[in-house]
Amino acid sequence: MTVYDLDRLRAAVSARLPERRLAHVLSVERQMTYLAQLLLPQEMLRLRAAALLHDIAKDIPDEQQPALCDALGISLTPAERATPPILHARSGAVIAARDFPAFTDPEILRAIALHTTGASGMTLFERMLMAADFSEPRRQWERCQSVRQKIMQIPRTAPLAQRRRLFDRAFLYMLEVKYDYIATTGTVWNEDTQQMLAYYRRKFAQK
Ligand SMILES: [Fe+2]
Repeated sequence: MTVYDLDRLRAAVSARLPERRLAHVLSVERQMTYLAQLLLPQEMLRLRAAALLHDIAKDIPDEQQPALCDALGISLTPAERATPPILHARSGAVIAARDFPAFTDPEILRAIALHTTGASGMTLFERMLMAADFSEPRRQWERCQSVRQKIMQIPRTAPLAQRRRLFDRAFLYMLEVKYDYIATTGTVWNEDTQQMLAYYRRKFAQK
């Protein structure tokens, strides 16, 4: 993928998304550019492509998402089926593969599929999309601001290993605040989520 390809992708996505969604998506792309420079510069273009595509299915109404997933051949657990607001990530990955095959690959698609809920064993690339989406500067919610602050506090001159360690801690903090909110509102809280939190606490809490 070249910078020119990325410009073509941005133009194609811009033509498809309503103004408000596009403003968010472009803000996620900018936040991703910052994160990529900080953590994974060699993947800059693929990371930005993932950011541009991550909400490609978000403007399809939630109530249509379960049937859309069925039509796209995505198998849903009962918990997923009962939580339409998270399904745009699953349908988005399949639509991105279908409509933008030149810009996607398995890791980009998995990053899109997991960007709302997360999962155990995500790669740094996949975790970066989840963090860029949650921490983009247009989000004014106090919990998003606190994650953004933790990311912005990572010293750009620190050694790469240390920058990644600090990001891992910020990522764990993001999961905690995300799921604290979800638990209090009762949206999704199933065994998978708890297992995932336990996985990242083991992996990142001590770092
Ligand atoms: Fe998003």
